[in-house]
Amino acid sequence: MGMRSLFVSFAISFSLALSADGFHQQSAHQQAQGSRDSATILHALGLRARPDVRKMNVSQAEYSKKMNMYLKRTKRSTTEPRRLFTFHPESVDRGQNGEVLLKFRPVDFDETDGASLKMLVAGATDVKVYQRSDNGSDETLINSKELSQSGTPIWVDSYLVPRDNYQSISSNRSESGLILRVSCGSDCQVFEPVLNAVRLVGVGRSKRHAEGLIGRTDCAGLPNRRPSGRLSARRVGSRGRNPDRQRCCRNKMNVIFKELPGYDFVVAPYSFDLGYCGGGCPYRYNPGTRHATIQSLMFQTGKGNAPRPCCAPSKLAPLEILHLDDEDPKQLKTTTWDNMQVIECACF
Ligand SMILES: *[C@@H]1O[C@H](CO)[C@@H](O)[C@H](O)[C@H]1NC(C)=O
Ligand SMILES: *[C@@H]1O[C@H](CO)[C@@H](O)[C@H](O)[C@H]1NC(C)=O
Ligand SMILES: *[C@@H]1O[C@H](CO)[C@@H](O)[C@H](O)[C@H]1NC(C)=O
Repeated sequence: MGMRSLFVSFAISFSLALSADGFHQQSAHQQAQGSRDSATILHALGLRARPDVRKMNVSQAEYSKKMNMYLKRTKRSTTEPRRLFTFHPESVDRGQNGEVLLKFRPVDFDETDGASLKMLVAGATDVKVYQRSDNGSDETLINSKELSQSGTPIWVDSYLVPRDNYQSISSNRSESGLILRVSCGSDCQVFEPVLNAVRLVGVGRSKRHAEGLIGRTDCAGLPNRRPSGRLSARRVGSRGRNPDRQRCCRNKMNVIFKELPGYDFVVAPYSFDLGYCGGGCPYRYNPGTRHATIQSLMFQTGKGNAPRPCCAPSKLAPLEILHLDDEDPKQLKTTTWDNMQVIECACF
């Protein structure tokens, strides 16, 4: 099984487990299956329990300390060095019904990997964060969060929109900067709001793409290239159907943890190139093992009903992640997940 399909099945079982927890609509069998899958995944990820994001209470001091340590440590192993920038609001105004208006000076979101608003909220049961347009007539809900305990102050993180949509909040376009409205009830108080942005630094976009994680089997470097990028449903289905059109190679596949069901406890990296292997394995093409060489020959000569070898990861790299800690709601923790990124592909 390829890394990609493994990962996809992770995500599917995770969402199964989540919906089983959340809605109690499945049969007992499905629920048992769901929680078993969930336990297996958590074990594989080195976690005892899935951290309950609602109970987490990570202060800005803890966040910036651990994030800076994480970024420093992963600097050597990445061609995409990142830095944390923290912005304080230019003004904080109280509006009607206890809502809070936060105004940030224009922030250039170009090259931003992930950004979130962090604040200490007291006296709220739920927090909603909206982004206002320049003229104040338009609003977009960017985050909605239920809090497990009301009353007690708790640190709340609101992730702004995913990387691809940063144009829409890029205050480059707006002279008034970024305006966020926090709605959390009439008795609610908001303390120490800041905007944390993790940005790519030091390497230009074009250079980054050229140097990436590229191994010798990267599709972009091969003559029979096809567009690579986000995985589309169409491409999943057509994978390997026309094996001679593209030979076995590594495609890029960008993963944003906040968009994966059940992975909202991951704080960094915000996104990374998971990669996947695709393409055909014509006769003697890039065998991963001696076994594949012989199987390829068996297929070619029509002996023993051997199928054509399949394209799969031959080299994987670990990924260091910064995440919420299931044992301590006030801390962030670093864990290394093995075999998380495809570096090279071969025929097996
Ligand atoms: C306010 O700005 C938005 C775009 O940011 C635009 O769609 C809308 O028409 C504007 N409204 C007014 C009253 O100018
Ligand atoms: C969260 O942490 C703050 C200090 O950073 C503390 O004052 C507050 O009581 C904590 N809240 C909860 C629910 O533990
Ligand atoms: C953003 O600002 C930069 C320089 O400040 C400018 O070159 C660029 O065209 C601007 N982009 C947009 C979308 O306005």
